[in-house]
Formats: sequence, C-alpha cells, structure tokens
Amino acid sequence: MHERRESIHGQWSSRMAFILAATGAAVGLGNIWKFPYITGENGGAAFVLVYLLCLLLMATPIMMTEIMLGRRSRRSPILGMQALAREGNASRHWSLIGWMGVASGFLILSYYAVIMGWALAYVFRAGSGMFEGMSAPAIRAHFEGFAADPEKLLLWHTVAMLLTLTVVARGVRGGLEGATRWMMPLLALILVALVGYNMGSPEAFYQALSFMFTPDFSRLTPQSVLIAMGHAFFTLSIGMGAIMAYGSYMPERVSIARTTLIIVAADTVIALMAGLVIFPVVFANGLEVGAGPGLIFQTLPIAFAQMPWGTMFGALFFIVVSIAAWTSAISMIEPAVAHLVEQRGFTRVRATLLLGAIIWAIGLLSVLSFNLLADWTLFGKTFFGLLDFVTSNIMLPLGGMLMALFAAWVMRADSTRQELGLGRVSFALWRLLAAFIAPVGVLLMLLSGLGLWQ
Ligand code: PHE
Repeated sequence: MHERRESIHGQWSSRMAFILAATGAAVGLGNIWKFPYITGENGGAAFVLVYLLCLLLMATPIMMTEIMLGRRSRRSPILGMQALAREGNASRHWSLIGWMGVASGFLILSYYAVIMGWALAYVFRAGSGMFEGMSAPAIRAHFEGFAADPEKLLLWHTVAMLLTLTVVARGVRGGLEGATRWMMPLLALILVALVGYNMGSPEAFYQALSFMFTPDFSRLTPQSVLIAMGHAFFTLSIGMGAIMAYGSYMPERVSIARTTLIIVAADTVIALMAGLVIFPVVFANGLEVGAGPGLIFQTLPIAFAQMPWGTMFGALFFIVVSIAAWTSAISMIEPAVAHLVEQRGFTRVRATLLLGAIIWAIGLLSVLSFNLLADWTLFGKTFFGLLDFVTSNIMLPLGGMLMALFAAWVMRADSTRQELGLGRVSFALWRLLAAFIAPVGVLLMLLSGLGLWQ
C-alpha cells in the first residue's frame, strides 16, 4: 500500500475542499442545538470546561488518527481497517471498529434527521412572521404542540432524509463538496450578528457569560462528565468512520495535524457562539436553562420576535442550521454506502436508497418518542434519549478509543509518522495522547459515568 493510492470513490479537489467538507460534517446540530441544551442540563461552566479538556486531550488526537487511518487505507472504514490490520500483521477483527461505526452512523442519523426536520419546519415558521409579537409562553407552547404532533414530525423527518439521500447518492465530488462552500461563512456571520444583538442587553449577556464560563464543580456528576466527553466525540463526528471515510478522499500531501486543528477550532468557536446566542435569551426572559432538546426552538424565536428584521433573521438562521445539519447528516451514512459499493458492487444510488429506507424506518421510533411513545422509557430515557445517549456517550468514544489504540500500538511507528507528517516532538506528543491519555481517559470516564466504577 505504499505506492500512490486513491480511493475508488474519487478525491477532494483540494485541501480547502477537504477542510470544508470535514468542517461541514463536524459543525451541525451538535454545535447549535445539542451543545447549548446539554450545557443547560448539566449545570453550565464546569461541564463546558470538561468538554473543552476532552476536546483537547482526547478528541483532537483521535480526529488526527481517524483521518490518518482513512488516508492510509484509501478505503471505506470496514475494508480499510481490514487492510491496515493485514499490513500490521494484526487480527482481522480490528474491522469491528468499522462495523461498529456503520452501526453508530445508522443510529445517529435516524434521530438526527428528526431534529433536522424540526429546523426545516422552523424555517417556514420563522419566515412567515408568525412569531412576531408572540409572547415567550406562547412560543414555548407552540413548540410543544409541534413536538406532540407525530404527523408533522414524520413529514419533516421524511423531508430531511430525502435531502440527505439526494446528496449522498450523487457522490463525493458532485454531492458532498458543493454544499459546504458557502454555508460555513454564512453561519458564522449570522451567529456573530446574533451575539452582537444579545450584547444590547448587557445584564442578560453577563449572566450568560458567567453561566458558561464560571465553573461550579459541585454541579458535575460522573454522568455529566461522560456526557461532556461523548459530546467532544459527537461534535467532531469522530469514532464512527465518517471522518475516516472523508480522510480516504484526502489528497496525499496535505498536513493532517494542521487541518485537524483548523476544523477543531472552527467547530469549537461555533459551539461557544451558539451558547452566547441562546443563553442571554434564556436569562433575559426568565426561561429554564434545562429545557432539553427543545431549547433552541423555544428560545430563539423569542429573540426573533423582538428584534428588528427578526422575521428575516429568523428564517435565515434556521436555513443555515438546516444546511449545517444537512452537511453533517450526509457524513453519517457515507461509510456504509461506500462499503456496499466497494464490497458488494452496489451502485451508489442503490446503496443509498436501501440504507436510507432502513434508517428512515428506525427514525420513526424517535419521531414517536416525542409524542405517542413519550412514556415508553428505559433508565428514565425515551427511545430518542436512549439512542442519543448510547451512540454519543458509549459507541463513539469506544470507537475512537479503539482507533487510537490500533494506530498507536498496532501500526508501525514509521508509517504513522510518515502519514501524519509530524516532526519528532509533535509525533511524540501525538503518541502519548493516542497510546495512553485518550484511551485511558475514555475508559475511566465510561466506567465511572455508567456507574461501573467509583
Ligand atoms: N458532528 C455532527 C454535529 O455536530 C454530528 C455527527 C456525529 C456527524 C457523528 C457525523 C458523525 O452535528
């Protein structure tokens, strides 16, 4: 595998194209919808701090590792892990990482499309001006009515799945690349404008800042630490092969480390800005920080209802969130589609349709978990809550941990070093993180967060 390699699915046209696509996969509902609501539920700043530490010490080195595994193998995750294991004279069972990743991607997309559907629905609600002059309680009641209506959620879930499948079916260059080019800058611009607007109410803004950045460690529990770690994996889309598949389309001479740092920085800035957009509205209106998955849909329309050009801003905001979700959703199914094409000779379109239908059907359970099946709970979580918990906080960290262990202990140091393109010191640092710190950290947080070890 040392000659020039290229994936059969094609290649990104440039480094910039890879950065845009990978940032598009990373930045999504995780940053704008999930980060604020789990920060609210888990007590704020201390949670944010743990999240940032996990990003730095675990998720960043694992992201580099995952891109490296993809580019080294030039194959989809399952066959890629098999080939790399063969190269390192290791067991074929390492391809389990690929299988688990495919399963994670399936399960995540099944509920992610439901929430993407909410964002799509809110484009029309905000754009029609229906929030103008609406009170905070009315806006909240509107969301509750929406979530309680299975038909509406089903419709929007279906639209979200169709949008996702259309892009995936068109393939790497035609489909995946185009979507991200203009979306990221526009998203950043809108967030900056909204943060600026919030600064107009200094008191609430200050409250939001201290909620997000003045830690109170007494509010941390082992479970919230686990959720912070899981979110570091979720927000970067790592641990399930999506980034590995994207890495397999990455041109040869691009620095993996530098590219990773750019993506992590962009992803983190966008999440923190989303917090500074949501929390001031929460405090200014005396709302509940722990409102759960509906948080952004119950808070932001309040700001849009009050601000000048609110209707336009609101519509634009939800359009951009939908697009951010869209460019993430396509990455979740890419490993499985690429696998069916490589291994079973499916056409891309057939593979996409088949897998899409299965994922859509699993998504129905998430749709219903907000209404008809809301009482159907296990460990105090609905189907949606359980799926999110198991995938983000268990499957992704485990997948990432195994990738790190594989790269650090099974692959030959000269090949990882060559592929990562690092100097002596930074390579030693990567090894320390990938071989010890990240895997041990994942293991400890998993055991304590799941209550298996005190
Ligand atoms: N990172 C994406 C987000 O923040 C979610 C995602 C998870 C995408 C796993 C792909 C794989 O929304």
